[in-house]
Order: sequence, then structure tokens, then C-alpha cells
Amino acid sequence: MQTYLVTGGTGFIGSNFILSARREGWATIINLDKLTYASHPQTLAALSDDPGYQFVQGDIGDSDLVRTLLDTHQPTAILNFAAESHVDRSIVSPHDFIQTNVVGTFNLLETSRVYWEQLAANQKEQFRFLHVSTDEVYGSLNPTDPAFREDTPYAPNSPYAASKAGSDHLVRAYHHTYGLPTLTTNCSNNYGPRQFPEKLIPLIILNALEGKPLPIYGDGQNVRDWLYVEDHCNAIHRVLQHSCVGETYNIGGRNELTNLTVVEQICSILDELAPKPNFKHSSLITFIKDRPGHDRRYAIDCSKIQRDLGWQPNESFESGLLKTVQWYLDNSNWVEQARSGAYQTWMKQNYSDRSVESPVESRH
Ligand code: NAD
Ligand code: DAU
Repeated sequence: MQTYLVTGGTGFIGSNFILSARREGWATIINLDKLTYASHPQTLAALSDDPGYQFVQGDIGDSDLVRTLLDTHQPTAILNFAAESHVDRSIVSPHDFIQTNVVGTFNLLETSRVYWEQLAANQKEQFRFLHVSTDEVYGSLNPTDPAFREDTPYAPNSPYAASKAGSDHLVRAYHHTYGLPTLTTNCSNNYGPRQFPEKLIPLIILNALEGKPLPIYGDGQNVRDWLYVEDHCNAIHRVLQHSCVGETYNIGGRNELTNLTVVEQICSILDELAPKPNFKHSSLITFIKDRPGHDRRYAIDCSKIQRDLGWQPNESFESGLLKTVQWYLDNSNWVEQARSGAYQTWMKQNYSDRSVESPVESRH
């Protein structure tokens, strides 16, 4: 059995990856996570008695800790999920994004390089550093532009996207300069169980259930390309197992939808699964002031990973969204913990001064 050092494994995508890895027997897992606001204590509770899973609280920027973990567990791979990940927070307070996404990734790379260089030849050959990144590094598309390919020039627009672009460049440089066996994946918007409810889909589900306004930025016509989180995790594992070193892969679900369409689909599902007499959840839709610098459209061309590695998503947007809504309905304890304390402060900070621009009827 292989051992993976997963960073940021208590967050949304990392936790889904770890659960898949343990369920499918991919590897023994060491999870290094700082436990920021975005992580959740119950997320990996199901693994508390699993001898193949170990949690370590700490920072990817702590070189001594990372080196100790590498020496102790001798992982075959590091998978770097750890990041500050919310665009709106990067606009309000970018500092942590530079610290974790750029400086933290740099420290992780440097510690990995020093460790990797002293490995025996066969271990050196086997080792991989997989960096989980985003399509936001490519910037924003116009309606008729072709989707992002691996060779699309980087043009990050938010502090978050710029920090991820910076980390991607460092990963590239560590492969090019030192030969560190790196892999980079750039994925589109994920959705699914265990996503922190600051992001669009869980926020809309939970607000709708409570009868609160469903905030849509600007005109609701911004387009995102949605992928169910388990499909992303399968793609990452396939890249780790089968890709040549130094490669980058775009991952996406070919599900381009406007934000308004996504919100309306959630409302329709809730009308079925959590009906209220004489009430349509879509009546809660509220247009609010736009996000500064809001990227208009993302779309991923995932033909390279399909062609080279035979990866395909399993979920359609309809099936994945239904599963996601059901998960939030079934996990009210998780939801309550996620929304306690600092979450309320964030909701006030991000949403209280964004007056309604125009009534929803005029947008349909
Ligand atoms: P998340 O915010 O849900 O989780 C991030 C995790 O990283 C948290 O558990 C947090 O505690 C941890 N973390 C933060 N700083 C750390 C540090 N310095 N040291 C150790 N741990 C730290 O994020 P997510 O949505 O799961 O995203 C995971 C990765 O995937 C990120 O790199 C993100 O850029 C990328 N990504 C996300 C999406 C998406 O739609 N969510 C899409 C493409 C790529
Ligand atoms: O594209 C991949 C990226 O997707 C990841 O790298 C990021 O980590 C992840 O957060 C996500 O970024 P987005 O900014 O696209 O996701 P978010 O859920 O914040 O917003 C999705 C869209 O919905 C976006 O156009 C903004 C809009 N939105 C978001 C929120 C939170 C709203 O209209 N209202 C909201 O309240």
C-alpha cells in the first residue's frame, strides 16, 4: 500500500479525496491541515478508527514539521490541496492568500526537494508532488472564446487567482530547475458534499431552506463550468498514477451554466425535496452588488486528460446537484457547526452592504 501526504485534507476537496482514497484502497493517508475556518471537525469523523488514516494539525509553511512527516512516513506522493480558496475573502483580506498559497507552497516544494534529493534511486523515481490548482489562473473568457486549454496563457484577475498562479509557476520551476517530479491539475468549479457554505451552491441551498434571500451577484449571467467533487478526485488520482512527470492537466465537467440557472435548479430541487405550501424557493432570489473584478466566464477544455488518461466524469450536473442537495438536507449537524461563530461574521461582512440592484422579475 502506498502512503500519500495530503495537505488541506480537512477542507472540501481534500476530505472527499481522502474518503475516496480510503474507500477505494488507493493509499494510507497522512493529512496535514492547519484547520482554518474552512475546515470542519466532523468532516473526517468516519475515519477516526481507521488505522490507515492519520491527522496532523499544522501549516504547510512549517518546514520542520513537513520534513519530520516526510522522514517518518516516507510518502510516495504529496498532494497539495491546502489553500485559502474563497475569491471574495481574497478581495477583502488578501494577505493569507499570499502567505499560504504562494509562500506556503514554496516552503512545501523546497522541503520536498531537499527530502527527494536524498532518496534512494528507486524511491526517487517513484515520488510525486501533485499540486491541485484552479482554472481561475487563466482569467476570464468572452462568450464565444474557446475553453481554457493547458497552453492558454495565465491571466489571473483576483488576488486568489494570482496567488494560485504564483504557486503553479513555482511548481513548474521546481520541475524545470531541479527535476522534482511534479504534476499540476487545473480544475473548474467543484460542488458536492462537505463544501463550506460560503461558496455559491451550499450557500444557496442553506439560505433557501431557512427562507433567507438567495444572493446573486450582478446580473447572474456569469458562467461557471461545474464538476462533481468525486469526479475531480478520481481525475487527480488518475493523474497521480498515470501521468508523465512535469505534466499539467485541465479538469472540468463540460457543464457551463450561468449562476442564475444554477440557483434556479437548486430551487426546483428544493421545491420537490423540501416543499412548503404555496411557496416557490425561487421567490427568494435577490440580485445584489457585483463582486469587484468578477470574472465573466470560465470553461475548461478537458480533452487532454480524456485522451491521455481515459478520464470521464461519472455525474451529470443534474444527478450531482440532486446528491448534493440531499447531502445538505441529511447532515444538519455538520451544517450547524459550519455556520457557527466566524461564519456569521463573514456573512455580515460580505452581504450586509450590497443593496438590491433591481427586482428578479426584470432579469428573467
Ligand atoms: P477549502 O477552503 O475547502 O479547504 C482548504 C483546506 O486547506 C482547509 O481544510 C484549510 O484548513 C487548509 N489550509 C489552509 N491553509 C493551510 C496551511 N497554511 N497549511 C495547511 N492547511 C491549510 O478548499 P477546497 O475548495 O477544498 O480547495 C482545495 C484546493 O483545490 C485549493 O488549492 C483550491 O485552490 C483548489 N481548487 C478548488 C476548486 C473549488 O471549486 N473548490 C476548484 C479548483 C481548484
Ligand atoms: O473555478 C474554480 C474556482 O471556483 C476555485 O478555484 C475556487 O476555490 C472556488 O471558490 C470557485 O471560485 P468561484 O468564485 O467561481 O466560486 P463561488 O462559489 O464563490 O462563486 C461561484 C459564482 O457565483 C461566481 O460567479 C460568483 C457567484 N456568487 C457567489 C456567491 C458566494 C454569487 O452570485 N453569489 C454568492 O453569494
